[in-house]
Amino acid sequence: MYGKIVDYSLEGQKLVIQFEKYKGIIEAFTDEIINVFCGFETETHRSKAIEGEKHKETKVSVTKDETGLIFTTDKLRVYIADEFKVDFYDAEGRLLCADYRGKREYAEQVSEEFLELIRAEGHDVADGNGLDYKIQVVKKMQGDEKFYGLGDKTGFLDKKYYDYEMWNSDIPQAHTDSFKALYKSVPFFITLRDTCVYGLFFDNTYKTFFNMAKENEKYCFFGANEGNLDYYFIGGASMQEILKNYTYLTGRTPLPQLWTLGYHQSRWGYETKEEILHIAEKYREYEIPCDTIHFDIDYMDGYRVFTWNEKNFGKPGEVIKQIADMGFKTVTIIDPGVKLDPGYAKYDEGIEGGYFAKTPEGEVYVNAVWPGDAVYPDYGNPKVRSWWADNQKYLLELGVRGVWNDMNEPASFNGELPKDVVFTDEDREANHAAMHNVYGHLMSKATYEGLKKWDKKRPFVITRACYAGSQKYTTFWTGDNQSLWAHLQMAIPQMCNMGLSGLSFIGTDVGGFGADATGELLARWVEVGCFSPLFRNHCSKGSIHQEPWLFGDEVPAIYKKYVELRYRLLPYLYDLFYEGEQTGMPIIRPLVLHYEKDKETYEMNSEFLFGENILVAPVTEQGATKKIVYLPEGIWYDYDTKEKISGGSYFLKDAPLSVCPMYVKAGSILPNYEPMHYIGEIELDTLILDVYPGEGEYLHYQDNGEDFEYRNGAYNLYRFRQTDGVLTIELLHDGYDKKYKQFKIRCGKTETIVPFTGETIKVRESL
Ligand code: GLC
Repeated sequence: MYGKIVDYSLEGQKLVIQFEKYKGIIEAFTDEIINVFCGFETETHRSKAIEGEKHKETKVSVTKDETGLIFTTDKLRVYIADEFKVDFYDAEGRLLCADYRGKREYAEQVSEEFLELIRAEGHDVADGNGLDYKIQVVKKMQGDEKFYGLGDKTGFLDKKYYDYEMWNSDIPQAHTDSFKALYKSVPFFITLRDTCVYGLFFDNTYKTFFNMAKENEKYCFFGANEGNLDYYFIGGASMQEILKNYTYLTGRTPLPQLWTLGYHQSRWGYETKEEILHIAEKYREYEIPCDTIHFDIDYMDGYRVFTWNEKNFGKPGEVIKQIADMGFKTVTIIDPGVKLDPGYAKYDEGIEGGYFAKTPEGEVYVNAVWPGDAVYPDYGNPKVRSWWADNQKYLLELGVRGVWNDMNEPASFNGELPKDVVFTDEDREANHAAMHNVYGHLMSKATYEGLKKWDKKRPFVITRACYAGSQKYTTFWTGDNQSLWAHLQMAIPQMCNMGLSGLSFIGTDVGGFGADATGELLARWVEVGCFSPLFRNHCSKGSIHQEPWLFGDEVPAIYKKYVELRYRLLPYLYDLFYEGEQTGMPIIRPLVLHYEKDKETYEMNSEFLFGENILVAPVTEQGATKKIVYLPEGIWYDYDTKEKISGGSYFLKDAPLSVCPMYVKAGSILPNYEPMHYIGEIELDTLILDVYPGEGEYLHYQDNGEDFEYRNGAYNLYRFRQTDGVLTIELLHDGYDKKYKQFKIRCGKTETIVPFTGETIKVRESL
């Protein structure tokens, strides 16, 4: 379709190629990030994922031979041939990723008859049916590829032999492996081969299609029928490097407020202020730590966004204050759909300002969500975003500490919004087809900006829908899962792949949203949930209540054990966020991210790493009390028994309901807090160090856990190091005045308390 290469020129780091029919561009953003572009819709990128200047100066050159053009950076060599075929090699000349030259064709098991049927149904363009997309990139397979990433898809860790769509979808049915899309669109995946690894990011916000060698194992492809050809080849020496480069491009999760990492309780719906107070009291009575209570849609007046239901929730904000006095923070839900209701201030303001999406005829477009007939803020318009941002002030003044953005695919009860509903894309008109996948992204960005402006703290935003790059603004949960063992099992690969897609602040509804949890399921779920960055128990109206004390005696005790574990490990978790802001490394990691040469990890769906040091092998099957555990090479310690185990093999571990098997890498130094019921209850002036013998070094980060002062240097960075049986504690950066007063060093059965003044400490005897 592009034709032969006719001409070319090098403009800075950009190679502009004139083909017979189109102009193609190969551009080095950095020496490892190469963009491939053809402007079918716009002359330049209109990325929502990439913000700010991402070009790094790098030396590029271009040469020509009989096969085409060769564009090089210090790290990569790109071969460009006629028909805009593009192949990537590393600097040593090893092939990383090549375009497929043959014709796309179904593998043999798809019959001609089936294809006929598809055609008869009127699918004359692609739609996942094997026909060509207007824009498509077909990459040749070597055979040993594994695919990771692609956002919040269902199924297992390795995405090979499946196909997916990027089209944010509100799906209330139980999510199964055959689903092609869920709530989020992250058109990015990592390919791991025996000899190399690379990432591909297709930055196109329209509906896009990903076929991971399902159609034919000779190739995988991605495509779209609208927008530009605009993809990034992301190189790097390891999966970690790829992720670092991808998150360099699309942004990283910023440090959150510390309390957001505590435990959250939610239900749709707590319908009265009495119910909210009851929940708060119960948590304190059972002494299960809890920081946050979520208010679902019932707190609003008739589901009108930015209003308060005084009938059931009393004076605006009063109950928020009451639970705040008990140490609880409040998160409220907001939905984008504004009730069509003349006389309701938000509706009137939106109509007056022209803030809502319109039909092609220029009428305000109406669909329906919880409040009934509703209209849709046009977040692609900067004026609408700033209106939305300013509305957060209403919530903050009530005492709200975080905002939960829901239904922002956008959901619509009267059928999907037609593709031609008119939206804005910054400075130009656009339509629903283009803006659908970024609707949740832009809503979250507006919410984030509002909270930042009016609260000055690190904004805590949760979203259901998003696009690549949303991690800069918001945290995520996996939407409406159900109280099914299959969903608990799926949570592991799903969260791992979200982490590999740049979305690191994530969680699933602990216990399951729809259907009814059993005590056993809830106990096993909290054993996974306590490691997920967003740790929230949430369930649906119509399902049984899911607070832990409702399930006899054993379950609340187990629940408490794991929520307490979470609070003890908060400084470790916070350190992982600190690391993530520098490197893009997620919190929940598939084993393959650290053990890329170990084939046993490639499809490890039942274990994960919580940072590099802790491996979690939870039980996720009903009735099971044993777990087959695999530990990668190296020395590990059983977290509960402290037994020393050599990795590199499988073994059977006893895991009654009260035990989630966990293993700590030898040489780890894990920071812990003293027990507490919520953040803010105790002074965090003592840090416990759990030392697991071996050689090791650990960086620990400390700041006020609230605002952006850390970006001006108001933080402390400590280095803990163990070598030759000596533990050294050093303060590498001294910028936050509330340094620890003491360290409690625990090793095996010994515990040593050492006061700290800022001077380097060396401790020998306990190791
Ligand atoms: C959606 C959300 C769910 C919420 C419900 C009511 O289904 O995914 O979390 O509780 O709406 O607001």
